[in-house]
Amino acid sequence: VEELTKNQREHWESIYRDFPERFGTEPSHIGLGALKILMEEGANTILELGCGQGRDTVLFLQEGMKVIALDYSRTCLNQLEDNARVLGLEGLLELKEQDLREGIPFPDDSIDACFSHMFFTMQLSEDELAAIFSEVLRVLRSGGFNIYSVRNIDDPHFLHGTHMGEDMWEMNGFVVHYFSEEKVRRLAKGYDIVSIDEFTEGPLPKRLYQVVLRKP
Ligand SMILES: C[S@@+](CC[C@H](N)C(=O)[O-])C[C@H]1O[C@@H](n2cnc3c(N)ncnc32)[C@H](O)[C@@H]1O
Repeated sequence: VEELTKNQREHWESIYRDFPERFGTEPSHIGLGALKILMEEGANTILELGCGQGRDTVLFLQEGMKVIALDYSRTCLNQLEDNARVLGLEGLLELKEQDLREGIPFPDDSIDACFSHMFFTMQLSEDELAAIFSEVLRVLRSGGFNIYSVRNIDDPHFLHGTHMGEDMWEMNGFVVHYFSEEKVRRLAKGYDIVSIDEFTEGPLPKRLYQVVLRKP
């Protein structure tokens, strides 16, 4: 169990090295939904957690938003940087290699909105998740959205593979934290819950919650 915890970062590095388009180049369902909300809101500066190779990052940049994209994999950040340069969008993009368990290195009330697709569903204990949610709350401006997705307990892979504690299960080297609706609500401490909806992605299909929280 400890080995896998240490190795998740290395695992992502090798996945991104081997698969330059691991999640495709098309924006995700939740990325498109978030874009609509953020445009209505007039959000300018978006913080993206666990951006990966940036299928949704590029979507936001193309709309002229400034994106601060964080991930602990240097490989995917380099790929995203190259891609943004090819598209002429690098001026709007700020990249930061950051293990988010160590906090979010930005000032209070400095960010218009936070977006993450399948980041909070990584190998993070509920205590670690609570700490990251409170960091997001700290850096968001009042009224700012925290829009995210997580795999939920109706996902076909929940309870399969190797149990890694809490609601975390490892399969093919990937550790996934599956969320019940109660867990979504517990982690919304300090936020207003705007919506919790279900969607699916990919051939499995993965079953996910898309959650919209707002800082009061
Ligand atoms: C399932 S991938 C999703 C990538 C991207 N959001 C997408 O949907 O295409 C999760 C991402 O979270 C990153 N990640 C996992 N744990 C992290 C941590 N503790 N700190 C920073 N990034 C992390 C991984 O490197 C990976 O890029």
